[in-house]
Amino acid sequence: MKDEWRILSYRKAISAIKKHMKPITSYEEAKKIPGIGLRTAEKIVEIIDTGNLKRINSISEGDDIIKKFGDVYGVGPTIAMKWYAKGHRTFEDVLKSEKLTRNQITGILYFDDLQKRIPRDEVTKISEWVTCAALSIDPKLECITGGSYRRGSPDCGDIDIMITRNDSDGTTHLGVLTKLIEILRNQGFLTHELVQHNGESLSAKFMGICKLPEGIHRRLDLFMVPYNEMGAALLSYTGNDIFNRSMRLLARKKKMCLNQHGLFTNVSRGYGGVKYSKGTIIAQRTEKEMFDALGVPWR
Ligand code: CTP
Ligand code: MN
Ligand code: MN
Repeated sequence: MKDEWRILSYRKAISAIKKHMKPITSYEEAKKIPGIGLRTAEKIVEIIDTGNLKRINSISEGDDIIKKFGDVYGVGPTIAMKWYAKGHRTFEDVLKSEKLTRNQITGILYFDDLQKRIPRDEVTKISEWVTCAALSIDPKLECITGGSYRRGSPDCGDIDIMITRNDSDGTTHLGVLTKLIEILRNQGFLTHELVQHNGESLSAKFMGICKLPEGIHRRLDLFMVPYNEMGAALLSYTGNDIFNRSMRLLARKKKMCLNQHGLFTNVSRGYGGVKYSKGTIIAQRTEKEMFDALGVPWR
């Protein structure tokens, strides 16, 4: 319900509980876990004592509909609430009376497919398909699947593939993304193109929908990465998002700046943290180099 902070604090609590290696049996024990606040500890105890959480039962049907609207690709919580307030209760209502973007229409039409988690071996197959097409353009391209797949998840929300090329022979992957998209589209593999950023740059990005011949529609993200930035890209496109936030915050505390291109020092910031200068690059080639420069142990 647009409550980003609460989502974040619940996710922190969930990972704190996952890391706690023995069953939690009391309020005292719950509140001692780092990342668990007093209110969360109270809820944990309620679940221990009653096997249930009263608040969840009071989530209304309206909340469910708003959540469903907000889960559509290209629709955020604000639009979802606006639709509900206007009296829409189903996708038919929305399709009939709202002026939608092309992506929102696609998001609604393929909603059921896109809501389904992707089993790990299907992510492997899709990655192999894309890699095969990429290698037909240039056999020296390297494709690495990041996101939840690289974190070892048994199933994923989408497929995130980074593509780079060792440029030491003087050739780069410039222009590859456009060719790749065309090949994948002609194969009938790529069914929808949602977003393409800075198309012809070495850092071009693509978001779309793909489908294996025997499969259903799946979200696909492609990230082109300059070879020297691969460590920074692996770090930021593997995530998860909370890990990225904490690494970026750590960099900031050390007067550095971390993004998908690298780790920078001597970044001058003005009022409200607005950056004045890009700073000096200190790490970007490998993940280990990034961790070392931030003083975080690499395992
Ligand atoms: N990411 C990013 N910039 C984007 C898109 C994604 O930096 N434009 C990062 C996210 O912060 C995340 C990683 O790339 O660390 C993968 O993003 P995403 O696919 O949204 O999430 P996953 O962690 O892969 O989870 P899921 O299984 O739901 O896809
Ligand atoms: Mn992902
Ligand atoms: Mn993604």
